[in-house]
Amino acid sequence: MHDIIEELERKRAAARLGGGSKRIDAQHAKGKLTARERLELLLDAGSFEEWDMFVEHRCADFGMQANRIPGDGVVTGYGMINGRLVFVFSQDFTVFGGALSEAHAEKICKVMDQAMKVGAPVIGLNDSGGARIQEGVASLGGYAEVFQRNVMASGVIPQISVIMGPCAGGAVYSPAMTDFIFMVKDSSYMFVTGPEVVKTVTHEEVSAEELGGAGTHSTKSGVADLAFENDVEALLMVRRLFNYLPLNNRDKLPVRLGGDRADRLDLSLDTLVPDHPNKPYEMKELILKVVDDGDFFELQSEHARNILIGFGRMEGQTVGIVANNPMVLAGCLDIKSSIKAARFVRFCDAFGIPVVTFVDVPGFMPGTAQEYGGIIKHGAKLLYAYAECTVPKVTVITRKAYGGAYDVMSSKHLRGDVNLAWPNAEIAVMGAKGAVEIIFRDDKGDPAKLAAREAEYRERFANPFVAGARGYIDDVIQPHETRRRICRSLVMLRAKKLDNPWRKHGNIPL
Ligand code: HXC
Repeated sequence: MHDIIEELERKRAAARLGGGSKRIDAQHAKGKLTARERLELLLDAGSFEEWDMFVEHRCADFGMQANRIPGDGVVTGYGMINGRLVFVFSQDFTVFGGALSEAHAEKICKVMDQAMKVGAPVIGLNDSGGARIQEGVASLGGYAEVFQRNVMASGVIPQISVIMGPCAGGAVYSPAMTDFIFMVKDSSYMFVTGPEVVKTVTHEEVSAEELGGAGTHSTKSGVADLAFENDVEALLMVRRLFNYLPLNNRDKLPVRLGGDRADRLDLSLDTLVPDHPNKPYEMKELILKVVDDGDFFELQSEHARNILIGFGRMEGQTVGIVANNPMVLAGCLDIKSSIKAARFVRFCDAFGIPVVTFVDVPGFMPGTAQEYGGIIKHGAKLLYAYAECTVPKVTVITRKAYGGAYDVMSSKHLRGDVNLAWPNAEIAVMGAKGAVEIIFRDDKGDPAKLAAREAEYRERFANPFVAGARGYIDDVIQPHETRRRICRSLVMLRAKKLDNPWRKHGNIPL
């Protein structure tokens, strides 16, 4: 018996060593942690239960039969984050460059299947050279098995990807189908085809970092939600994000009560919006002053900054926040911001997270770039997302709500539950100047007359009371009482029940 126990320990030690100390040193030299070190940071101390430590590949080609490493390049299992269950896989770059074999894929699929059975999120730490070249189509099949599970799990359990090394070719499509992607600066990249292929096909010269690094994806493409300085920071932020999320789509939202009172007033909000209608202001300041303890977990903070998205808490309960940002493009909705917010609203809706929307939007962005890029379809995504959304929806118009963008931004007409406006809100088809230039075109040569018309239009429409008279706005509130009013609305909405008609699935304008 003693020998058997020793043998087990020997086997375990061999598996833990992965590709060996030389490759571990190389990993460290690149500023990267190993697969196991990462899991230690991600999970509560001592909570990790490993599975399939002894799995090996079954490949016999290219001398692979003599080259088997227990675990086969991915560490899998489950553990806890702040005492809440999570399934994990962490690719081990020291073993065949973390490349995905058939057996490696089976290990990932096993934890995904179990996560679905028990209703717990999956977090994947990606660090891989892609398909295991020696295995050919068996590896491609393995990827597709993972993809299929990503899709089936979508909207059922939260899925989070952290890119901590290479992630290239078709391998990018598994993270792409998960709910959130974090990347590590300077050590991770994602692209469908690498710089060499790009050079051959399009004659573009571009570095891996420029093509698909954390900077590129967290600013330009929006593929990644956030980029972090190093592995440690990325993993600690995943823990923070996890705290906001329910374990599955039928789970209650996590509640974390701080000391922040629901009826806390903030008088500084009464002067947040400048007197001049075209002067920008920090919408984020409003968010920080309204949520519990000023704690706002912003996502995609460097991408499509004309809209802000992220999680906060109101009276301890998670809410999703969407807000136009007048500091960037005057808060206009364009292609990127519509897609960014639409996907976030759909995540919240899938997981029962109430959506709080702060509106200051002068409309959709005009121009050929937007029209040729398909703003009609992409803007419709946000409209569609809000319209199909059945979770509690609370909307506060802080200033402008013009045109189609008024309708889109969680208006009463899209089943907004509670729609509030600040007293300075302007809810109209468009701004006063643009409006009079169209309807009083004949007065164009008479600036004094035009100015008078503009003043008249502003007086008539640049306020929340026309919408209030129709019940499109439930109440006009003082800015300083915004938190209290939202908290009360959310308490009132706790037992909200609303079902959309049965259908196989809708056809969101993709
Ligand atoms: C098998 C691989 C591998 C792979 C790397 N290795 N990628 N083994 N299959 N795909 C091995 C290397 O042989 C090496 O083994 C070890 O991992 C580390 O690799 P290095 O090249 O030494 O590391 P580095 O210089 O950091 O470069 C990392 C890399 C490079 C950029 C990822 O290895 C690389 O370009 N690999 C090939 C990438 C690729 O073409 N993958 C297939 C893409 S197609 P030793 O024993 O020396 O340590 C794809 C399709 C997916 O993925 C489709 C899904 C539908």
